[in-house]
Amino acid sequence: INYQSTTFLTSAPDIRALPADEGIEVAFAGRSNAGKSSALNTLTRQNSLARTSKTPGRTQLINTFSLDNARRLIDLPGYGFAKVPLTVKEKWQKSLAEYLMKRSSLKGLVVLMDIRHPLKDLDQDLIHWAVESKLSVLILLTKADKLGPGARKKIVLDVREASLAFMGDIQVQAFSSLSKLGLPELEQTLDQWFGA
Ligand code: GTP
Ligand code: MG
Repeated sequence: INYQSTTFLTSAPDIRALPADEGIEVAFAGRSNAGKSSALNTLTRQNSLARTSKTPGRTQLINTFSLDNARRLIDLPGYGFAKVPLTVKEKWQKSLAEYLMKRSSLKGLVVLMDIRHPLKDLDQDLIHWAVESKLSVLILLTKADKLGPGARKKIVLDVREASLAFMGDIQVQAFSSLSKLGLPELEQTLDQWFGA
């Protein structure tokens, strides 16, 4: 698939406002600031397709992007941002779980985690819901450029081993939007999910 030709589709305030549940969809999820929007920009070779920010919690809307008329990429708002009120957090968690369980076109979930802080509680909840919903999961350990090769490899192996406990279809890759580490592997997995 030529991810370069991805275009912006819609911004949805909640899951009820998403495009029709048809075709194939892949969503990017993770804690605030994990690097979701950056990874989407890296994948599509577009610097400003998805908005990135140094301020955590930047992506509040569900942004949807179209690869072609049957395939979509979804940039989900980050979770775990301390300054968001508890009621908003709970509401978002509920709708995220609902999205994973009910969205028929959703084929796979890319879960992004800062390689220096992997598998926090909310990440684990998300992976559990995804596995329960029979989704394929690709864990991207982001900002891998922040670590040397030795430390990086060790964390990848540790997370791979820990991910066996979820008993699902889960892959684990180091990723960097800066160095493009893990980009070919991301593309390969998405190609599979999109059936290309
Ligand atoms: P929210 O939308 O707030 O949930 O954040 P997000 O997950 O979309 O993160 P975003 O892509 O906006 O990146 C957050 C910050 O991390 C920005 O300052 C990015 O420049 C930085 N960042 C993202 N990816 C990388 C990476 O691979 N390496 C390094 N060093 N920094 C990165
Ligand atoms: Mg974002």
